Amino acid sequence: MSTPTFPSPSTPVSIEGPLKVLLLENIHSSAEEMFAAEGFSVEKLKGALKPEELEARIQSVHVLGIRSKTNVWEPALAKAPNLLAVGAFCIGTNQVDLTSANKHGVPVFNAPFSNTRSVAELVIAEIVMLSRQLGDRNREVHTGQWRKVAVGSHEVRGKTLGIVGYGHIGSQLGVLAESMGMRVLFYDVMTKLPLGNSRPTATLKELLESSDFVTLHVPATQSTEKMIGAAELARMHKGAYLINASRGTVVDIPALAEALKSGHIGGAAVDVYPEEPETNSDGFISALQGLPNVILTPHIGGSTEEAQASIGKEVATSLIKFVRSGATTGAVNFPQVETPLIPRTHRILNVHRNTPGVLRDINRIVSDLNANIHAQVLSTDSNIGYLVMDLDQDVAKPVAQAIAGLQTDIKTRIVS
Ligand code: NAI
Repeated sequence: MSTPTFPSPSTPVSIEGPLKVLLLENIHSSAEEMFAAEGFSVEKLKGALKPEELEARIQSVHVLGIRSKTNVWEPALAKAPNLLAVGAFCIGTNQVDLTSANKHGVPVFNAPFSNTRSVAELVIAEIVMLSRQLGDRNREVHTGQWRKVAVGSHEVRGKTLGIVGYGHIGSQLGVLAESMGMRVLFYDVMTKLPLGNSRPTATLKELLESSDFVTLHVPATQSTEKMIGAAELARMHKGAYLINASRGTVVDIPALAEALKSGHIGGAAVDVYPEEPETNSDGFISALQGLPNVILTPHIGGSTEEAQASIGKEVATSLIKFVRSGATTGAVNFPQVETPLIPRTHRILNVHRNTPGVLRDINRIVSDLNANIHAQVLSTDSNIGYLVMDLDQDVAKPVAQAIAGLQTDIKTRIVS
């Protein structure tokens, strides 16, 4: 990635004819349908584009949709004068140079919550599977062994589920688990509203000592790195189960393998690993392979058709809202502004370098042109300022042109 620079002052972004959307990597048709309903012109490609291919195609694109395999870096952004926004139709956004996009006035939207339910449902299935040793029984019958046993198999009703990280997934999971008659405890670093009859614990230690199942739903941060290691596993009940469908860095895998081999931990379901294969054709090795009552899945917690459809809708909704009104709520790299459109006005959206005096210069232009401001909202971050301004319709064009000519201008357009 090259060092991002601020682009030079420009003319307002012009959109002649239908707005052009380029969707890569087989994005779900739910997105295409929404763009088409808005009258946008949509081009859809099955695969990802290599950086040089993207640079060649991006010039006339207004909205770019990608998933995890297309890198959007400075050279492409520098060649995209008309680009209004990027939609990452996935959860992560590290394939986009977010700082560069910010400095080019391009907000990046993603879909952080569209697969919440899919993960919660997988964990519910795993709770029952671990409790009944279903992974092992299934393997045995497939290989011709008949082991009809009740010892070590339990109902989940009345058991305690300890949820570490009571965010979107954790809290949804708690509600589902209660409907199966489980008691729910949770531990979170933030104060959270307990749903249903769930109860927070004051410490992680208390949760580990009180739970039959411990399930992890925290982000990958410094504070969660190996937050479950030998000491934490030792605090869990003998025979308790561990589930990790959050991030691979959260669990110390060799320590978990030891605790499973010794029989202290009764089973585990793991969906995420410290190192994961890049593609489906790469092999995979883990210290957990072959251990009894261990369910291993290839990071599929959020991988359902429903989640893909929901990601398509969630990101397309954010992009359409941004195109139509300038709303940046949920953008991962941009000052957040969302204000209702005012009838019979024109809205100017201006992204500028965050240096002192820009608003004064803009307001002087407005006043010199005798324009009446109906609403004006400015939000800034350390690089840029994002101004949303509603003006009388007849003056919006000359005002936008004058603002786009300022030395501090990055991107200006009119939403009519
Ligand atoms: P979220 O941001 O809604 O919730 C995370 C919660 O963890 C927050 O309430 C936060 O306060 C809490 N937290 C942060 N640090 C903590 C700590 N040190 N101790 C205790 N609590 C802490 O996130 P969401 O959407 O519920 O996702 C949770 C995890 O699931 C993330 O790591 C995400 O990447 C992962 N995930 C995995 C998927 C899969 O395919 N297996 C799919 C979707 C998400």
